[in-house]
Amino acid sequence: MSTRAIVLAAGKGTRMKSARSKMLHELCGRPMLWHVLRALHDAGITDVTVVSSGDVTNQIGELAASAGHLTVRSVVQEPQLGTGHAVGMALGEMPAGEGTIVVLNGDMPLVDSALVRDVIDACAGALALVTVRMDLPSSFGRIVRDGSQLSRIVEARDATEGELAIDEMNAGLYAYDEPKLRAAIAELRNENAQAEYYLTDTIAHFVRRGERVAPVPAPEPASVLGVNDRIELAAASALLNRRLCQHHMRAGVTIVDPATTYLEPDLEFASDVTILPNTTIGRGSRIGAHSEIGPNARLSGAVVGEHVVLADSVVVDSEIGDFSIVGPWAHVRADSHVGTGARIGNFVEVKKSHLSPGVKAGHLSYLGDSTIGPRSNIGAGTITCNFDGEAKHVTTIGADVFVGSNSSLVAPVTLGDGSATGAGTVVIRDVAPGERVVGNPGRPLPRKEAT
Ligand code: UD1
Ligand code: MG
Repeated sequence: MSTRAIVLAAGKGTRMKSARSKMLHELCGRPMLWHVLRALHDAGITDVTVVSSGDVTNQIGELAASAGHLTVRSVVQEPQLGTGHAVGMALGEMPAGEGTIVVLNGDMPLVDSALVRDVIDACAGALALVTVRMDLPSSFGRIVRDGSQLSRIVEARDATEGELAIDEMNAGLYAYDEPKLRAAIAELRNENAQAEYYLTDTIAHFVRRGERVAPVPAPEPASVLGVNDRIELAAASALLNRRLCQHHMRAGVTIVDPATTYLEPDLEFASDVTILPNTTIGRGSRIGAHSEIGPNARLSGAVVGEHVVLADSVVVDSEIGDFSIVGPWAHVRADSHVGTGARIGNFVEVKKSHLSPGVKAGHLSYLGDSTIGPRSNIGAGTITCNFDGEAKHVTTIGADVFVGSNSSLVAPVTLGDGSATGAGTVVIRDVAPGERVVGNPGRPLPRKEAT
């Protein structure tokens, strides 16, 4: 029978001091719970039950789907009477089985699939649990041993001074034999400092019955870091980000300064991409080979081609073609397409616009709701006046158009192929192909007489 999992994600996480549940606080652009669900997915676990409460509950379906799960079972725990009670509620909703059940805390976003597999493989008797050596003081539950044998877990709040000096801790990741887990949960009592049903009391339960309890030492403490407050959230984010950077560097990406490069899961970088400092890349962005991103860039949902140079700029939900140069200080807003070999320069804002190959908009422009044909040159200070106070209108610029500096293109308006505007022209009527206009309002220049 395949392995199933229970994720404990109920309760607000009072130490976060937040209106939002702890599980929804983000690390590297994804809620904490997403990372745990992704680790389970990567470990090959497809039957997942999440115990939740409050604002987390109606997000579970979406979070699980975006982490790769086809289905997820959601169980509401209200009130929260402890981790043992939470597992009992989950088991109540799961059809009884004979296999292994992984149980893990939702507040361990650095957990990785290899560790999940390790604890499953170690569960030969009643239970295997991940243990970790940590610096003191710590709020983690302590592993109490009797000689070399593990005998019980004591929560920090219930521990004696002697027990608090133990530096071997419970990580919050377990693999149980399902029938034995069901029996143990039924026996839990809440006689402790928090009057809660502790899942961790199952360890003493099994030891008393002579059942096998296998400790699995975590290879690196970072992967089981629990996040309970915003200080731990920042520390976990930094570790996760470093892990993401290392993944891409191993695959052939140069990241000049991983400490100031902020990535998310599920990005695609071709080899020989270079990322310069102070750069944030998220929302499924894809970067083509030999492109250089940064410094000071922010990309979200960006599809960037090959050999692009993109500095000090923002690109959101847009495409940048091969060999383009973007920035410094460009802002490419949603639904834009910048064609091959185009140049979007200093202080240029592009919104919902299609720039054909070879377009140059080098300086100080706003291009909104526009289509610009191949090789057209947009002079410094050109503005598409797309909004008349009530509605947005479209500007259409043909191929090989020369738009003079400081032109205002009052939409809806069309500039035909090969047309031109003089500096400072206010274009309020369509310009015919090949026509040249100047002034305010723009009027055609008389054609030069042949001499
Ligand atoms: C828990 C463990 C502790 C371990 C530590 C590792 C218990 C009793 N203690 O302590 O041994 O060292 O994790 O991080 O299990 N939750 C519910 N319902 C509840 C209570 C908690 O779903 O009624 C969930 C929380 O959302 C959280 C997880 O269970 O994700 C652990 O709860 P938390 O309160 O963070 O326990 P810790 O004190 O961290
Ligand atoms: Mg915790």
